[in-house]
Amino acid sequence: MKAIQQESRVSSKSKTETTTIESSWHHKHVLDLDDFTSAEIELVFQTTDAMHEILSRSIKKVPTLRGKTLVTLFYEPSTRTRSSFDLAAKNLSADVINLAASTSSVIKGECLIDTLKTLEALGTDIIIMRHPHSGAPYVAARHVKAHIVNAGDGWHAHPTQALLDLYTIRGHKSSFKDLKVTIIGDIKHSRVARSNIWGLTKMGAGVTLCCPFTLLPIGLDKPRGQFPEVEIEPDIDKALSDADVVIALRLQLERQQSGLLPSIREYTNLYQLTEERLAKAKPDAIVLHPGPVNEDIEISSAVAHGPRSLINQQVTNGVAVRMALLYLLAGGSHQ
Ligand code: CP
Repeated sequence: MKAIQQESRVSSKSKTETTTIESSWHHKHVLDLDDFTSAEIELVFQTTDAMHEILSRSIKKVPTLRGKTLVTLFYEPSTRTRSSFDLAAKNLSADVINLAASTSSVIKGECLIDTLKTLEALGTDIIIMRHPHSGAPYVAARHVKAHIVNAGDGWHAHPTQALLDLYTIRGHKSSFKDLKVTIIGDIKHSRVARSNIWGLTKMGAGVTLCCPFTLLPIGLDKPRGQFPEVEIEPDIDKALSDADVVIALRLQLERQQSGLLPSIREYTNLYQLTEERLAKAKPDAIVLHPGPVNEDIEISSAVAHGPRSLINQQVTNGVAVRMALLYLLAGGSHQ
């Protein structure tokens, strides 16, 4: 943190406070939020605040990662995550290579480990990885020396999305304690939901999941060994009652198996977040959606573009949160 304070003149924290905060960071990789403490999540928030200050300047660039090489390695499509990591890394002066599996030697049959070893041989310091198979970034972390950041693996985790969601909530609510956060939609296929449940419960928020039982993953149905404190409420009106935060999830049409839903129309009738339903939440409730949005399927256009929607703010915060994570992983004075 000291380095970024000198570079960016952003924080009023004393050196002792800063050293204490920095020493609480011990992650080589960011794979999910299950191994984050609330103090570490708070450190990401504070570092993100500093990054926002950099982003408010006319020249949004600091030399923190000068000389480091970052590769975005994406085996699935992405708009938000890949472009915001690209921007975040460039704002920190890293050299960036964007690699999509669809235009790489993966198409010629190269396996994941060989691709990773090739990136290592090229001198890559940080790999931002999205993969359709749950656990792929964990395999990467075992095979190369680079820092690995999970940018979404299968149905499993999307920790940087959860951190930017939490950071966005923090900007509108005084505390996570006693918040009712209702997550509606395709929980089964949602890596965002899983990482958000970890992050929200660690920060002390109450979480209510709302979906048809066919879209509830094994492990979250009863008995719920992993998250016993999480509420499950399939009735959307009850789930939204007195909610402080509503997170609508994309219906992952590409991951649906036959039999999970009678039809998209029935799902929309029962689970679409509409203005009428949102009126059951608290008057100051905020609405998040990780994107991309299927407008008028899981969320009505009126809500998605309405005054409570923070969808664009989530995207903006994503750059600063990802800058913070890159700084903490590879740019701090502890490196
Ligand atoms: N939220 C999210 O992961 O969006 P992208 O698929 O566009 O990266």
